[in-house]
Amino acid sequence: MATLSIVAVLAVVPLLPLTLVFLVHFCIRALGWYLQGQTSDRKAAIISRLKAERAALSYDHTSQEAEDGWEKIEKSGTAENGKLLTDDWNGVVGFFHPFCNAGGGGERVLWAAIAATQKRWPNAVCAVYTGDHDIERGVVVATVQSRFGIHLQEHSLVFLYLSTRRFVLASTYPHFTLLGQSLGSLILAYDAFRLLVPDIFIDTMGYAFAVAFCKYLFSNVPTAAYVHYPTISTDMLQSLDDTTGEKGIHSGAGNGLKGKGKRYYWLAFAKLYGFVGRQIDVVMCNSTWTQGHIRQLWKPKRKSSSFAAIVYPPCPVEELEKRVQLTRESEKNRQNIVLYIAQFRPEKNHSLILRAFAKFYHAAQDKPKLVLIGSVRSDTPDEKHVYNLRLEARELKIKDATSFICDAPFSVILDYLQKSSIGTNGMYAEHFGIGNVEGLAAGLIPVVHNSGGPKLDIVVPFEGQDIGFHAETDDEYAAAFGRVAAMSLEERFAMRARGRKSTKRFTEAAFASKWVGEMEALVKLQKAN
Ligand SMILES: *[C@@H]1O[C@H](CO)[C@@H](O)[C@H](O)[C@H]1NC(C)=O
Ligand SMILES: *[C@@H]1O[C@H](CO)[C@@H](O)[C@H](O)[C@H]1NC(C)=O
Repeated sequence: MATLSIVAVLAVVPLLPLTLVFLVHFCIRALGWYLQGQTSDRKAAIISRLKAERAALSYDHTSQEAEDGWEKIEKSGTAENGKLLTDDWNGVVGFFHPFCNAGGGGERVLWAAIAATQKRWPNAVCAVYTGDHDIERGVVVATVQSRFGIHLQEHSLVFLYLSTRRFVLASTYPHFTLLGQSLGSLILAYDAFRLLVPDIFIDTMGYAFAVAFCKYLFSNVPTAAYVHYPTISTDMLQSLDDTTGEKGIHSGAGNGLKGKGKRYYWLAFAKLYGFVGRQIDVVMCNSTWTQGHIRQLWKPKRKSSSFAAIVYPPCPVEELEKRVQLTRESEKNRQNIVLYIAQFRPEKNHSLILRAFAKFYHAAQDKPKLVLIGSVRSDTPDEKHVYNLRLEARELKIKDATSFICDAPFSVILDYLQKSSIGTNGMYAEHFGIGNVEGLAAGLIPVVHNSGGPKLDIVVPFEGQDIGFHAETDDEYAAAFGRVAAMSLEERFAMRARGRKSTKRFTEAAFASKWVGEMEALVKLQKAN
């Protein structure tokens, strides 16, 4: 008798973890149903209010809507017979963006994404989950227009205010920050779903845990993540083993007992992050660098080659094309100027550019100029840095050929974009560098560091031909400057024109059409549910 029950228990024991997993799973799902039920009234109210606002709007509907871009996006949704799809999908797209008023590059992506979504699905609701309580819809729409030149439809935009943002602040977790912030984002996500359960959930700030949580709560809500930067990168893991001190603040931190602990913690976190990432339906990355890391960390079981598509953030390329002429005529106004636009900070390696330029300068017949434009954050070591760079220029005997312009207004920058010949960049492994794109769009021939985004994303052959040069050492930079100077006028002009044309990849229109392409997949999933 006794042995029999022991056998029975032994047979059940291996099943216990499984049962537990099942139970947890079930509880989360039940919570999801509960949340969906709790917020369904609010959702219905929002949708019907929008309907009313839209109806009121369509009375005085003039030609206002017929701007550029609109048509292009509509066309990406044409049916087989070539007729425009009148897609009246009217679901709620939830954008998880707790810090939406920060006004930086990440916000530009958010607003451009919302604008593109609104144009493609005019009946959809774009709901932004934000922790900024002081923002008001009309003001946001106006600011986004003036600051980024992005036009939002006010009536289909909704803000939902989160009250638990402190849980994702790094300062809340002095230890185990990565894990703390990630788990904190679950609380924040719960806060969001308590306000409204969307039909599609998109994270644009890097809260992968929140997205996976959504997947577990609601199996019928398709999810997406736009990744600017992986929460933990494979570079970070490798830097632990680095003994040269070159790999940043964590260099060699993997030594000793504490180091061992840190290594296990990071490896475990990377595993967890990978698991979380695999739950997300649609993944977009902002650059080749990010895509490389995300593919490595979120290696999906589905071995789709299109997993984690690159959707470049929109750059103000069109604006520069309008303002900076690029014709054979304007070529005459270009001078032998090497332009470097970058904040005056050590990692930008102005010193490398100074040394390279000195070599170029002393060997040149037609003496070139070097112009360094950058911001200097006051009361920081930046000021000392500029001072040291000036000393270096003097030592290199290029003082008179070199201009330092600190905190230049846009008009000055524009002037130099028009009259310079070469745009350079000295930073190692820069992730992207929007300045490089702006230079290209303005017709500068790029001589950039042979690493990071400038190498992988920006200065890459276009239509089978080079649009610029890569360099690493001062000798290589000097040689590249020399090659540009030695080109015929015609060659130089052709390269500038190619470079400008290649920046079409980074326009707002290109972003919108890629974004809508990825969104189509989500809407399709949502309709299938
Ligand atoms: C991607 O995002 C990271 C982090 O914000 C940024 O450093 C990088 O420049 C971005 N890449 C592009 C292509 O904008
Ligand atoms: C600048 O570039 C040189 C040459 O590649 C390199 O040795 C140096 O470490 C770089 N400095 C910084 C601060 O990145």
